Amino acid sequence: MLEVARIVGGRALRGTVQAAGAKNAALPLLAASLLTSEEVTLRNVPDLSDVRFMAEILRHQGASVANPKPGTWVIRAESIVHRTPYDLVRKMRASVCLLGALVGRLHQAEMAIPGGCVIGPRPIDLHLKGLEALGCAVSVEGGVVSVDARRARGGSVFMGGPMGSTVLGTANLVMAATLTPGETRIECAAREPEVVDLCALLLRMGADIRGHGTETITVRGVASLRGADHAVIPDRIEAGTYLVAGAITGGDVTVAGAEADHLGAFLDKLREAGVGVETGPGFVRAYGRPSRAVDLVTEPYPGFPTDLQAQFLALQLFVDGKSHITEKVYPARFMHAAELQRMGADIAMDGATAVVVGGKPLSGAPVMASDLRASAALILAALAAKGETWVQRLYHLDRGYERFEERLRALGAEIERLPASAMPKGFAED
Ligand code: EPU
Repeated sequence: MLEVARIVGGRALRGTVQAAGAKNAALPLLAASLLTSEEVTLRNVPDLSDVRFMAEILRHQGASVANPKPGTWVIRAESIVHRTPYDLVRKMRASVCLLGALVGRLHQAEMAIPGGCVIGPRPIDLHLKGLEALGCAVSVEGGVVSVDARRARGGSVFMGGPMGSTVLGTANLVMAATLTPGETRIECAAREPEVVDLCALLLRMGADIRGHGTETITVRGVASLRGADHAVIPDRIEAGTYLVAGAITGGDVTVAGAEADHLGAFLDKLREAGVGVETGPGFVRAYGRPSRAVDLVTEPYPGFPTDLQAQFLALQLFVDGKSHITEKVYPARFMHAAELQRMGADIAMDGATAVVVGGKPLSGAPVMASDLRASAALILAALAAKGETWVQRLYHLDRGYERFEERLRALGAEIERLPASAMPKGFAED
């Protein structure tokens, strides 16, 4: 059943929300469980459709996967297969991170190539370049990539592309290298906290990895990995989204369990915009309205995250002045701009830069979510707009935000989830 969110704007959000585990850490961690025949227990896993889908793929590969209580997943991959069909991969692009795990464990993999998505083309050339540098034979035929790692002995590779480092490309190469004989040196490695979390699990499993969190990661292959028990890091993108929810409504929101160290560039921009920010061990608080328009450029970590661009753009709509928001990770990731314009937003596109003139009144409207972060941005704008907004295609939101509307409601938002048929006549999708 298609669902929509109905939001009535104008209420200041106040209170504390508990951070969930990070989706983008959990997905590669689930994939990494295939690297051992022993049991891997993951805790603090968010309850999201992407996570459930990843569990389904692991089952397809032959693993036994259990979810004995909320947040805990137990995986045992005693005997697994090396093929992953298009049917599974096309539904979730992040399933590409299975490739490194399969190559590591089985020394061969055959995986359908996921293809692009609405935020832009999603090539995997760097993933394949990395595997080739390891010594794998890589071929692509009929939309399927085949990797033969039986002669792989490690190697050195520069993993930077036109947009800088690659998060899942780095994750794939690290996973493959853990069980490949010899030493692998990855230059221009992604430094995202989610990559560091993956390495933390792999170290617990007995891998030999150094330099994670820096631009150079070195992996020495080991003969086998063992089971482990690991808790997923808090979701920095989800935390940032709730902090914007506080600021955009002129409220006061604390995210308990958030890691301020992972949010450096984002918190810096919030402060620059005039929002009050307080951090401490295990919490981040944002209070008060923004007062200044600020420019920002998205970049790989530790730069401003592309996954918070749409939300920050929404915030800028409520500040007097002009801001330039530039995408350097996904230049076409501005699908939210056109929908925000339906609410009265003044946004002009100039290449990969959105020029936002803030301070114009926004009024609620029926709008369409195009991807995960865009749906969050539309809801944020709706919280501060005048009147009623209907956000359609809520399934995008459910990929990455656990019980979003319920938790916003606990902070004082007027938001409810309804069947699409409840929408005003003429606006509901067929
Ligand atoms: N790129 C290449 N070649 C490659 C791989 C990437 O040119 O072989 C380019 C991409 O086209 C993009 C840039 O490099 O322009 C960065 O892409 P990256 O590979 O880092 O993205 P990803 O690993 O596929 C993860 C997150 C995304 C997040 C990006 C960037 C997961 C599951 N996904 O994707 O999350 O936007 O890193 O930080 O970790 C989201 O959560 O909404 C989301 C899209």
